[in-house]
Amino acid sequence: MTTPSSVPTPSTATWRLVTPPHPASLDDAEAWAYRGIADLHATAAAEDLGSSDIAPTAIGILVGMNNQTYLRKLRQIAVVDTPAGPQVVGSAFLFLHVHSNPELAIGVVVVHPEHRRQGIGSALTRWVQDTARAEGRTTLLAPVDFGPAPDSAAGMLTPASGSGTVAADLPGVRLAQRLGLTLELVERRSRMDLPAAPEVVSRFEAESRAVAGDAYRVHTWTAPTPEQWIEQYAALEQALSDDEPRGGLEVESDVWDADRIRGEEAAIAAKGDRYVVTAAEHVATGRLVAMTMLQWNDLKPEHTDQQATVVLKEHRGHRLGMLVKAVNLREHARLRPGSRRIYTWNNEENPHMLAINVALGFVPAGGCANFQGPLTPAPE
Ligand SMILES: CC(C)(COP(=O)(O)OP(=O)(O)OC[C@H]1O[C@@H](n2cnc3c(N)ncnc32)[C@H](O)[C@@H]1OP(=O)(O)O)[C@@H](O)C(=O)NCCC(=O)NCCS
Repeated sequence: MTTPSSVPTPSTATWRLVTPPHPASLDDAEAWAYRGIADLHATAAAEDLGSSDIAPTAIGILVGMNNQTYLRKLRQIAVVDTPAGPQVVGSAFLFLHVHSNPELAIGVVVVHPEHRRQGIGSALTRWVQDTARAEGRTTLLAPVDFGPAPDSAAGMLTPASGSGTVAADLPGVRLAQRLGLTLELVERRSRMDLPAAPEVVSRFEAESRAVAGDAYRVHTWTAPTPEQWIEQYAALEQALSDDEPRGGLEVESDVWDADRIRGEEAAIAAKGDRYVVTAAEHVATGRLVAMTMLQWNDLKPEHTDQQATVVLKEHRGHRLGMLVKAVNLREHARLRPGSRRIYTWNNEENPHMLAINVALGFVPAGGCANFQGPLTPAPE
């Protein structure tokens, strides 16, 4: 194991900030940092969210850092030295869109539960702010994940748009408010426990097929995306990025093209992820007008993530959202019978998508509170 190279930091006797080394592979000695970030996220998520399901894997971090074309990613960590080597006790992650949102920085800071209230979060936040400003960014978006907790005695915060709430006394909420950021959007995380009753899924499939009729034909695939569909698949991702309600967040849609889909496919393969997509083709035009994706990794055998679901505007109202979801759930059950749950994220201002998920049996399981505001100096 190598020692992290120290950089000038606002360090204390027990911890210091370090730019994590970027290893060629997880077999390298330098992979201690990415492995440590993954361990830290798993510990913090278990404590804060009640489950480490959504924590990233070390290979996911490595592959993400290898892919900087559409989203630049910068990291900083807080470490303490132990007899076994450096331990990662804090992590800051900065995302910068490359082809859109030139003013925006997205920052996430997580501190190990046993090392909180020592100023590590503040120091990492200062790094986020200073680095973002040095990159010419003027706005900060801070997503704060929260678990399925009961209402807080300290009260609940609601964004100006009025949908969704988050407990006012969560550490991340307090930190975001101290930075002068405003709650602009709450996303709901929902969980569907598996196995789903096959007769329920097939009833939804049959009902939605009856409404959609012969005008639409369904296609299901696993990696790689068939070349025939790749452009249209990218157009659906673009439509999702253009149309998704974002509450009060000031975030532009991003750029999606076939090259980006190919890059995502390569990243999915490098991480060892697998997926199943179901799409609906409008028979008369040969155009893909709806799709949904479920993605998973066998390093996390119990859970699956719902990724994008979209129906093009002019084809809404034909139950295509439910149709592609029901077919995809059936295929997922066949491909991955051991999965125990699926997570999905919907913003609270998307009632149609939420209604489909509730009907399918998804239940609320926490969420993400998105704060945004001008980049101001960090707290001392
Ligand atoms: C939020 C988090 C990063 C803070 O880390 P930390 O190392 O404890 O932070 P600091 O000690 O530097 O405290 C920073 C400020 O956050 C606020 N804060 C943090 N924990 C708090 C708590 N339990 N109660 C009240 N305020 C709190 C305070 O404003 C604090 O400043 P103060 O100590 O001068 O009052 C940490 O609690 C965490 O990892 N939470 C889960 C992940 C998360 O929500 N991250 C934010 C998403 S971007």
